[in-house]
Amino acid sequence: MKVLVAGANGSTGRSILNHLGKNDNHEAIAMVRDNSQAETLEKLGASTTILADLEKELDHAVEGCDAIIFAAGSGSKTGPDKTTLVDEQGAIKLIEAAEKHGVKRFVMLSTVGADKPEVGSDDMKHYYKSKGNADEKLINSSLVYTIVRPGRLSYDSGNGKIRIAEKLEDYSGDIPREDVAKVIVESLDVQNTHGKIFEILTGDQDINEALKSL
Ligand SMILES: NC(=O)c1ccc[n+]([C@@H]2O[C@H](COP(=O)([O-])OP(=O)(O)OC[C@H]3O[C@@H](n4cnc5c(N)ncnc54)[C@H](OP(=O)(O)O)[C@@H]3O)[C@@H](O)[C@H]2O)c1
Repeated sequence: MKVLVAGANGSTGRSILNHLGKNDNHEAIAMVRDNSQAETLEKLGASTTILADLEKELDHAVEGCDAIIFAAGSGSKTGPDKTTLVDEQGAIKLIEAAEKHGVKRFVMLSTVGADKPEVGSDDMKHYYKSKGNADEKLINSSLVYTIVRPGRLSYDSGNGKIRIAEKLEDYSGDIPREDVAKVIVESLDVQNTHGKIFEILTGDQDINEALKSL
């Protein structure tokens, strides 16, 4: 499949490109806001890059794609206005563009807490609400979705082992971005993840096995 990766230059996005580059079933198209990132991202695993901004027009980026991975985010250094514009509205625009251009498959990098923003700290409530609104839009779309909700992300090396559940019983610990990326890329090929929402943290189950057990 031709897979558009939004947020390709991010920490998780780069790892997603790396996994896609090693997967013969897929071809990664890296969405970037700066063309100078192209060379690095192509070395990592992108077959090509496309210049696009989630706050602007997106039709040209999704045309001809078979699947979209949303791994973008405004990050912690900007305020709630950017969270709304990128994490919520940017994702919603991408979902609408996918529907308009016949892209069938959409994998969303969401977060634990997206289904219950009220339990978050004051700092996190708005972020959780924005991510939850984007997830709701996807759930109510015509797309074949997978919504991946990790707990806290780390920069540790991945070991390919996770804990998975529709709803985890506790959120202690974290999960390496590399493993989240692997979950997202493997979800493209595991039919059992179609139409599913699940939470993940580091654990002891092999990723592929875990996805099939959902
Ligand atoms: N941190 C956590 O513990 C945690 C937990 C659960 C889920 N998550 C989710 O995981 C996502 C990925 O995290 P990360 O740390 O890997 O992200 P990251 O390194 O901060 O990367 C975010 C990416 O989004 C891109 N982006 C920002 N605004 C954009 C826009 N307007 N148009 C297009 N692209 C835009 C950035 O582009 P540039 O490179 O051009 O800046 C960057 O490539 C987060 O955003 C969050 O929603 C995080």
